[in-house]
Amino acid sequence: MNINNQIIDLRSDTVTLPTVDMLKAIKSVTLGDDVFSEDPTVNSLQEKAAIIMGKEDALLVPSGTMGNLVSILVHCNRGDEVILGDQAHTFLYEAGGISAFGGIHSRQLKNNDDGTIDLDQIEASIREENVHFPPTTLISLENTHNRCFGAALKPDYMLKVQEIAKKNNCKVHLDGARIFNASVSLDLDVKDLTKNVDSLTFCLSKGLSSPVGSIICGSSEFIKKARHIRKALGGGMRQAGIIAKFGEFSLDHMISQIRKDHKNALILGQGLFKIKGIDIDIEKIHSNIVYFKLNENKSSYSRQMIKSMNDKGILFFEVSPNRYRLVTHYGIESSHIKIVLDTISEIL
Ligand SMILES: Cc1ncc(COP(=O)(O)O)c(C=O)c1O
Repeated sequence: MNINNQIIDLRSDTVTLPTVDMLKAIKSVTLGDDVFSEDPTVNSLQEKAAIIMGKEDALLVPSGTMGNLVSILVHCNRGDEVILGDQAHTFLYEAGGISAFGGIHSRQLKNNDDGTIDLDQIEASIREENVHFPPTTLISLENTHNRCFGAALKPDYMLKVQEIAKKNNCKVHLDGARIFNASVSLDLDVKDLTKNVDSLTFCLSKGLSSPVGSIICGSSEFIKKARHIRKALGGGMRQAGIIAKFGEFSLDHMISQIRKDHKNALILGQGLFKIKGIDIDIEKIHSNIVYFKLNENKSSYSRQMIKSMNDKGILFFEVSPNRYRLVTHYGIESSHIKIVLDTISEIL
């Protein structure tokens, strides 16, 4: 165990627990049956989310994975093709749901380290009408990009992707699980990052500390179809206001936490940079996600390093061989960062 006898969990911002004030807030929740659209708290959260994201309507879903799945199922028919990045969460970590449940073919294009996919590659990959080809109907992006150093896609890039999509009769979906991290990272209103997509999913249960919940946003027509598909997937929840109340609290009070998480991530990265044996590019720290490697002399100690850190109560993932990810979030303070740096330095 580390010197404070605590677990310092940097595996993901999904491990965040609700704050004391959040727990107090839910005591006064008003509930109804949300499958009948009669839960006032869910309705108010959805209205708030739609306004924040600059979309006509919104829909609460249990998870980011379901948000992306429902959205892609609305946009694509069976046999259609979606273009997405080879590092996209939807491609790598969502259990292949779009193909399993939607019969949707995915075309994975290389993600650059900044989370973008080359525009000329996107354009060249859109299929022409031909009996041999699956029709390309959707381009899916991710912002911030989890596997690409938590990088934030910029509005001018989003605009260019939207232009390509429009020209080719495709739609654009955004996995904005961490869209508020992107807006803080770029110092922009979140609407600047959503105005050029047809739909998006964002998560309440990551940096915003809600225990459950994600939201899909889009046009009224899109959300009407999404509601139907959510029901088909078993995601219609009854007195879901109990979840939505946390979500409302997150939107009202937790966005400011993200700035602190980004600051802690930078301090963590700068500290790691000073430790002999660690290979890290601090220019690539954009949000609350920090990646590092062990340099060549140390890489054979990878398993041992992870085990020793875990034994000392410090948790993080090796996302691929000799590539480690640490994520800052609510509950991680600068004092924890110091413990992490001291411990890893000692171990190496
Ligand atoms: C970028 C991204 N998209 C989607 C998800 C899925 O969210 P959930 O775990 O709520 O299904 C995650 C989860 O970590 C994520 O990082």
